[in-house]
Amino acid sequence: MSANHTPLHTVHVPLGARAYDIVIAPDAIESAGDRLAALFPGARYGIVTDENVAKAQLPRLAASLDAAGLGHTEIVLPAGEATKSWPQLQSVVDQILGARLERNDILIALGGGVIGDLAGFAASIARRGMDFVQIPTSLLAQVDSSVGGKTGINSVHGKNLVGAFHQPRLVLADLTALETLSPRHFAAGYAELAKYGLIDDEELFFWLEANYPQIEAGGPARGEAIARACAAKARVVVADEKEAGNRALLNLGHTFGHALEKATGYSDRLLHGEGVAIGMVLAYRFSAKLGLAPSQDAGRVEAHLKNAGLPTTLADIPGDLPPTQMLMDAIAQDKKVSRGQLTFILTRGIGKAFIEKKIDPEAVATFLEDIR
Ligand code: GLY
Repeated sequence: MSANHTPLHTVHVPLGARAYDIVIAPDAIESAGDRLAALFPGARYGIVTDENVAKAQLPRLAASLDAAGLGHTEIVLPAGEATKSWPQLQSVVDQILGARLERNDILIALGGGVIGDLAGFAASIARRGMDFVQIPTSLLAQVDSSVGGKTGINSVHGKNLVGAFHQPRLVLADLTALETLSPRHFAAGYAELAKYGLIDDEELFFWLEANYPQIEAGGPARGEAIARACAAKARVVVADEKEAGNRALLNLGHTFGHALEKATGYSDRLLHGEGVAIGMVLAYRFSAKLGLAPSQDAGRVEAHLKNAGLPTTLADIPGDLPPTQMLMDAIAQDKKVSRGQLTFILTRGIGKAFIEKKIDPEAVATFLEDIR
């Protein structure tokens, strides 16, 4: 069955005055004009995108807005993580003001996580806060970064250290856009999708295991997987919007993952989702080593992620293995360190993740030495 026969899914994020819908459909971009016209009568639009997405998806979005008679201006940025920076933030805000977009107008983020985070942050500060709409075009952005309102840029001190919570007014996840993703980038996004099963939904993880070939192929199972992931994320975000507690569960695999990304220079050697895949396997293995989780569950997680084309061990990272001390330095600089103790997301088994705030750094260092 082709993606065109995939049914539309709508996931509602019930955040009171900040509630919004996530629409998942093959033609979500084509439907944008009519949906936006109904939601924001009289508004004009600023579309923020990058040079790559502009080629593939901007004509679809511009045609849809034109057909609905919606005025828009385009802000096209260089592609890549370096765009999540102060200079590009300034440039976007200046272009918003230069185009005379008003406070009641709408910024649209059309692209992957970099564009969504940057445009969302620009929307949160331009004219003291404008509304924005996410149109995520990568799997990673569709199942993670476009949902939940975390926006921001990187600093010389680290990734995502400057930003704001600013919820979008609508998320349009377009399945057709995923057809041009490379298998490697699809797999990297899939790691974040599988994460929701591993956090608190074993049934989702088992369904992903059973349906992976159809999800990879596209069509209805892919739309359903994305909708289930968005619903899982929405549940966590609604319970703890500003990460005072359980939203930190969404960081499963991220402490090890961020350390690996940092040790590999945030380069093409390791994509974010790949770091998360290895990090999740390490979180399961570390939990098993501490006697908290069955080691069969760690093996099952590793087997599924490997089957999805993801790296799952340090040895899968091309090039020299980062020294344990380098990883420990990165982990110690993590924002989740308190009074010398580390916070980790650990697990009691598939779908049973929990937050542990008192992890001895020595135990982590020994574990990382043992698995080399
Ligand atoms: N990506 C983690 C979060 O949204 O909290």
